[in-house]
Parts: sequence; structure tokens; C-alpha cells
Amino acid sequence: MSTNKEAWGTRVGLILAMAGNAVGLGNFLRFPVQAVQNGGGAFIIPYFVCFLLMGIPLLLIEWSTGRFGGKFGNHSTPYILDTMAKGRLWKYIGVFGIFTNIAVAAYYCYIESWTISYVFHSLFGTFSGKSQAEVATFFTQYIDVMHSTTGIPFEAIVVYILCLALNTYILSRGLRGVENVAKIGMPLLIFFGIVLALRGLTLGTSGATELHPTANAWDGINFLWTPQFDSLTNPKVWLAAAGQIFFTLSVGMGTVHCYAAYLKTKDDIALNAVSAGFMNEFVEVVLGSMVVIPIAAGYLGLDWVKENAGFGMAFQTMPYLFQQWGSLFAVIAGVMWFGLLFFAGITSSLAMGTPWMGFMQDEFNWKREKSAYSFGLIVLLMGLPTVIFYQQGVFDEYDYWAGTVSLVVFALLETIVFAWIFGINRGWAEINAGADIRIPQFYKFVIKYITPLLLLFVFLGSLLTPLGNDWQAALSGLFSGNGWLLDNSSIIKQITNAALYEQLAAATDVAQIAALKSKIFFVNLARTFLILLFLGICVIVYIAYKKRVKEGRNTL
Ligand code: ALA
Repeated sequence: MSTNKEAWGTRVGLILAMAGNAVGLGNFLRFPVQAVQNGGGAFIIPYFVCFLLMGIPLLLIEWSTGRFGGKFGNHSTPYILDTMAKGRLWKYIGVFGIFTNIAVAAYYCYIESWTISYVFHSLFGTFSGKSQAEVATFFTQYIDVMHSTTGIPFEAIVVYILCLALNTYILSRGLRGVENVAKIGMPLLIFFGIVLALRGLTLGTSGATELHPTANAWDGINFLWTPQFDSLTNPKVWLAAAGQIFFTLSVGMGTVHCYAAYLKTKDDIALNAVSAGFMNEFVEVVLGSMVVIPIAAGYLGLDWVKENAGFGMAFQTMPYLFQQWGSLFAVIAGVMWFGLLFFAGITSSLAMGTPWMGFMQDEFNWKREKSAYSFGLIVLLMGLPTVIFYQQGVFDEYDYWAGTVSLVVFALLETIVFAWIFGINRGWAEINAGADIRIPQFYKFVIKYITPLLLLFVFLGSLLTPLGNDWQAALSGLFSGNGWLLDNSSIIKQITNAALYEQLAAATDVAQIAALKSKIFFVNLARTFLILLFLGICVIVYIAYKKRVKEGRNTL
């Protein structure tokens, strides 16, 4: 039996920690970009439908399975799933719940470390007097880690290591450490977010200058908030909306299970899960959409935003736009913006450390400190390639496989285990045990049928994305006997590096050919690291299983 007897200090602390787990860089960097790239108002309806039919059900599933596993002393998904179903293989599905967190933390903490650097650069006036192009160049120099001239030597690597050390230290203080960071970080984040969002809301046409004489912040807001119903039949938008819901709520990751495993048996989960989920949505939809997009549209125009939407905007453009508010406010806005991103990031990255720690504490009786330091070390080893070879695509590769595909795969499998193997009746009873609110009965049906079907659709849609993302053409092609042509963005084509090989075949320039070959090498290297990590965790889970058998404490 696990000697891990940690528990949450207060309910407020738990909800803030859970909300902090969800509220992250995804809310401020990923959401606005996804929304713009998928047609603004066209994205919003699928996004809310996915929240209600996948997000909320997955939160309920993960909170309840976490608390259920915690009763048996299991605090991470391999043995939480093992407790839920007879059979030796379920625990290996749970490997995703540790793997994803380590792999995501590896690159996520890199962005988090940028926010730390940018707070200091804002404070010391690095961006003051720089042109838009110079601020953008600063970023490209920063990520060119070996030749960076932005501040201290090898700044990106040094700050990344410091950021990991900070995460590790807080994790070594246990749940209390996580709770304290959430109690300070979440209110500050919301305060900074509200101040910046008010600026976004009140900017109007006052930012129109020679940069863009007709710029209007409201164009950005209207673009996001005018619903467009034609998108409802476009699977591409649905897939993007579903992907955003997974990432932003941190479902399909294993962190929610782990946090919930530290609840007491009689603690409510229904109200807690729904509160944390809605708090995330408030921060994402209200604050996340009111900062970057309106401010950028207010100075540079909506067309610029549509053409340049990418998460670089936050680092390459915002520090320049803040300069338009005068030197003092530029500093304040810079510190608030990057400070907000830092708190959003750290409350999520801390959560990513807890499944590994819970597992090592439960299975091998490791001390909290040892579990935390080992997490820091593995993340460092996995993360350094994303830092050093960022431009070669290692970062994006981790984000795709661990931060996108893994979430869907794990969410699909855990929903099947919950609703069909553990059984929806037992599952429903778990969700409602100790509940402070009544979850509508309708959700029992949703969890059993709708959520798994939607997840299957998302998975198959990503696996087999048709050429040009044109589903209509693909379906008529299929029915007229022309087969199904895959897009290079489909999982299958990604596995084979089809896009890169196509570019290589078409390339004539020697330098371009060399760059493409190097990219293919680094993409494969990144995948090798990810596969080794996954297999390594499988081996540890197997060793833990043997240990349990030997000690006569195997679960089922
Ligand atoms: N849920 C976290 C985020 O949105 C991972 O960034």
C-alpha cells in the first residue's frame, strides 16, 4: 500500500490548483490563434459544443476515476486504470497519463521560461525605442540559443534550466507548494488579465496611426464573436475546436486524475469539476480573446492579425505594441502580460510533475523530494533538444505527438474504460457520490454514447484528414470510387514525413536540400526520444507490477 498520504489543504486551494492546471499558456497563446485561423466566429460554436459534450464529460470522468483510484492508494493513471478494470493491460493505457506530462512539460517549460526572460526584458526596457521589426528580431535571436545576443550568454538555455529548477523546487514542497502557487498566481493572473482586457476593449480606433490608418480593435472582437453557422458542417473546424478543448482543460493528460486522487472519499467532485472547468472557460474565452487579438487589430488591423496569427505574436508583436502606451505603461503592460503568461504556465507545468511523482511515491516509496528531482532531471533531458533544436522542429514534433495526438488517444481509451468496462452505472454512481450539485441525467447518456463517438470521430478525422481538408470532395471521391486521398496533415502522412519528402523531391537548391534533410533527421530524433520515453515508462510500470505481485499487493 502506498505510504503517500498527502491531501489538499482547502477546497479553495484545490479548485484554484485544478483551475490553474487548466488555465495555461493554451488560454492566451493557443486559443486566440486557433480561433483566428479557424474563421473567428466560425470557431466559437463548435468550440462550445465540444466543451459541453467532451470537455465537461471528460472532466467528470477524470475527477471521479482519480478519486476512485485514490481510495486504493493510487495517484497516477497506470494503477488508477488497473483498479477500474480486470486485466493486465489496462495499466499500460495509463502510461499515457505519465508520458504526456513529461513530454509536454519538456517543451511547455521552454515557453514558460521565455515569459520569465520577457518579464525582465520588459522591466529593464529592452524593447524601448525598438521598431516592430527589431522586437520581432529580438525573439528570433533569443531562440537561436547558441548565438543569442539578447542578454546573458546562452540566455534561453540558462533561463530554461532556472525555470525547471523552480518547478522542481515547488514540486518538492508537495501539494502545499502547488496550492500556494495557485493561491497567489491565479488571482494575480486574473487581475492582470482583466487590466489588459480592459485596454483591449477600450482601445477602439485610438491606435490607428500611419502603421494602419483604419485599424480598429473592435474589428478583432467582432471577428471572434460574430457566430458563423456555415462552419458547423466543416470537420476541420470541429477538429481544431476539439483539440483546443483537450489542451486547454488538460483532459486526456493524467493531471486531473492525479490531483483528484488526493481527494477524500466523501469529497464532492461534481461541483468542483464543473467550477474548475468554467473558471478555465472564463479565463480563456473572456480574457484570452480580449488581449492579443483586439490590441493587435487596434494597431495593425484585422487583416494583419489574420495573416500573422501565430503564437509568436505574443512575444514578437505585443512588446512593440505596448511601447505605444508610453515608456512607463509599456513596462507595466509588459510585466503584466508576461507575468500573466508565467503564472498561467507554472500552475499548469506543476500539475504535469505530479503524475510521475505520485507513481514513484506509490510504487517505490520514493520521498517527495526524490520524486520531484527525478522529474526535473527527466524533463531536462527530454527538454534540452526542444530548446537547442527548436528551429529544427523538435519542439513542434513534441507538441504534435504529445500535446495533440496523445491527448485524444488517451481520452478515447479512458472513456471506453470508464463507460463500458468499469460500467456507466458504477461510473455514474462515482460521479454523484458526495456531489454538491445534481449533474443532469442527460450526461449519463452523453458519457456512455456521445463522448466516445465524438472522440472516435476526432481521432479518425485526425488520422485520415482528407486532401486539402476538403471533406466534401473526399466523400464524393470515395463514393465515386476514386478512393480517399490523405492530406499531409493527417496522422498517417505525418508518420511518414510525407510533406517533408515532397518538399525534398521538389527542392533544387543545395542549401534547401541540406536544410530539409536536417529537418527530417531532427523530426525522427524527436520521435525516437518520445518513443523511448513511452517505452521506458512501460518498463517501470511493469517493474512496479512485478513488485506488487511479489509483495502480494497486486490489485485485481
Ligand atoms: N491546460 C494547459 C494550457 O492551457 C496545459 O496551457
